[in-house]
Amino acid sequence: MSKVTVVGAGKYGSTTAQRIAEWDIVDEVVMTDIVEGLPQGLALDMNQSRPVVGYRTLVTGTNDYADTAGSDVVVITAGLPRKPGMSRMDLLEVNAGIVKAVTEEIVARSPDAVIIVVTNPLDQMVALAADVSGFPKHRVLGQAGMLDSARFAHFISEATGHDVLDITAVTLGSHGETMVPVPSLCTVGDTPLSDALDAATIEELVDRTRKGGAEIVAYLKTGSAYYAPSAAAAAMVKAVVEDSRAEMPVCAWMTGQYGISDVYLGVMAKLGRNGVEEVAEVELTESELAGLVEAAAAVKEKVADLDQIQQ
Ligand code: LAC
Repeated sequence: MSKVTVVGAGKYGSTTAQRIAEWDIVDEVVMTDIVEGLPQGLALDMNQSRPVVGYRTLVTGTNDYADTAGSDVVVITAGLPRKPGMSRMDLLEVNAGIVKAVTEEIVARSPDAVIIVVTNPLDQMVALAADVSGFPKHRVLGQAGMLDSARFAHFISEATGHDVLDITAVTLGSHGETMVPVPSLCTVGDTPLSDALDAATIEELVDRTRKGGAEIVAYLKTGSAYYAPSAAAAAMVKAVVEDSRAEMPVCAWMTGQYGISDVYLGVMAKLGRNGVEEVAEVELTESELAGLVEAAAAVKEKVADLDQIQQ
């Protein structure tokens, strides 16, 4: 595997391209954008960092989809980010048009690619890209759970003072109001989260995690988060190109797991060369499972809204 395309050279796209390039795990990262000069300038700048950072991957900046041909993985970041006060759902209509057009361009040139969508509203945009692509559902997936779980881990680390790298945190469900942080699967070192923090504090952290993106949008005023989001997207790309079968929370197509089917939902899954190799069913408490079922229903409803917009 050797070629990854990142669509969109905004902050999210360019930092994703940079992280993948710096890991030196592919031959080429193609970064494409509609803004003339932007991907070319950023790519040239990144390539010039190679002797200092010590990696060989070449980044190609382009406005022409022809350069994306034969990609093994394509990350779609194209679309508008939120403004302060906006929910991810406010972006639905405008980003649906962008994601549809981008997906058509991509599948025409990279028919065997794995597509990773990060554009918001995430769960709906993944469903749309899957639909437009006509790809098998396991080759289209979305990034959200890695990011939300990372945010949760950061907050747990802050609250406990424990090493952030020794914390396991998991969020499932949707990337939005029906996000399902899963405290029963969270550990602080060897200690279950429920023994490390009291219930009220855990609930506060869960709430802050759910609103984690909006908190950063409110600070930045223009644009949304990109350091943690790009780290999460790049980690998914790495698992696919290395065919590692690493298990992580991603937005994947449900085929009966937890009694849920026919919807894209945030769940634990093993990633490899085929995209989602397997959705892992983890043990959940009754209320966590109820949250997941609720999230699935909410996403289905929003996908139905999307279908209406498109007709
Ligand atoms: C966030 C956006 C990227 O959560 O969805 O920051």
